[in-house]
Amino acid sequence: MNEQATHFDIVAKTQFGLEELLAAELRALGATDIELLTRAVKYKGDKAILYKSNLHLRTALKVLMPFASFYAHHENQLYKRVRQIDWSQYLTPKQTLAIDATTNSDIFHHSKFTALKTKDAIVDQFRDRFGVRPSVDVESPDFRLNVHIHDKLVTLSMDSSGGTLDRRGYRLSRTEAPMNEVLAAGIVMLSGWTGEGYLLDPMCGSGTFGIEAAMLAANIAPGKKRLFGFERWKDFEGELWSKIKTEAVQAERNYPGQVICSDLDAHAIEISEQNAKRAGVDRKIIYRQADFFESKPPGDSGIVLFNPPYGERLETDDIVGHYREIGNQLKHHYAGHTAWIISANAEALKHVGLRPTRKIKLFNGALECRLQKFEMFAGKKYEGLENEGELKKE
Ligand SMILES: C[S@@+](CC[C@H](N)C(=O)[O-])C[C@H]1O[C@@H](n2cnc3c(N)ncnc32)[C@H](O)[C@@H]1O
Repeated sequence: MNEQATHFDIVAKTQFGLEELLAAELRALGATDIELLTRAVKYKGDKAILYKSNLHLRTALKVLMPFASFYAHHENQLYKRVRQIDWSQYLTPKQTLAIDATTNSDIFHHSKFTALKTKDAIVDQFRDRFGVRPSVDVESPDFRLNVHIHDKLVTLSMDSSGGTLDRRGYRLSRTEAPMNEVLAAGIVMLSGWTGEGYLLDPMCGSGTFGIEAAMLAANIAPGKKRLFGFERWKDFEGELWSKIKTEAVQAERNYPGQVICSDLDAHAIEISEQNAKRAGVDRKIIYRQADFFESKPPGDSGIVLFNPPYGERLETDDIVGHYREIGNQLKHHYAGHTAWIISANAEALKHVGLRPTRKIKLFNGALECRLQKFEMFAGKKYEGLENEGELKKE
């Protein structure tokens, strides 16, 4: 078979701001025709690339395989067009089905209603042809269909991931405001961490930065511990999948650096350790209960990642003072380090009192955040905003 016959369009969805990182991950996997979209990357690949995308991508939320697109001017037309597709190609009447719909359209306002109409068209076809119909299972369906409507253009995709890819399977226990795994992996990648030197998370909560950093450095596939939607597809190739998983385990490695996580709260440390154990990286991370404001760095240079309380979901008495104190600590004790702080509290971030060399807009859940980079040059004392030099352009 020639490449055109075996290669198809794939769309990996991600969070706002992580598109370029995702494209770089896809390049490394061997995907071709990579095109950046908003909160998504489109590319071409074969079945192996589709399987590998799910197993290996750290910054993807789901991997979709578009297979039909058409225009619809109203809901009945959507129903009619969906019914024209031969759904027995994709599932049997005994299997279960779930439909996710997103709409950005003046005609199709309600994504739930769009999903319902699509589901009706599919199950009506089965009932007419076979006398039985697939039932709906929103949690763990055999076949998950994604419907995307932009204006009048409807795109139907098979969701190869099943549950979203941020669910790596290691976080069963959570602290109050855990960070999404995909966002945490993206920030670790932005920080340039490769497994050398050390990476600190001094306010680690449930430990997401540390776990993602250790998994990345050890080249542990983020999807190693979970199942995917494509494993239940009619055309699933078990042998190919086993080979890909075996190769992934063989590619795991040791790394010379250290990941160190600490938190004020002993319970957070307990939860982090449990999560790290499930992720298979507990022996690669040092945990300690500590107040960042009373701690010193373990060496002369390293990466420090902060996800401090925002003062919204987690209350601290004086959120502005908290950020000011983070800045003071960095200024006085962290020369030679590169610090990254992500926060939804733009006002509090200003009180860090250091000039960021990079600012990136990201979202933590629905909260718009700023990720700021601070380079604490060795031998150079920070004097505060006014005395800082030019913003380094990246
Ligand atoms: C937003 S949470 C971090 C969430 C974390 N990124 C995760 O993925 O679960 C902020 C954490 O900062 C910790 N914290 C607040 N002040 C601290 C301090 N002075 N020293 C150490 N940890 C602190 C809190 O206990 C909390 O766990």
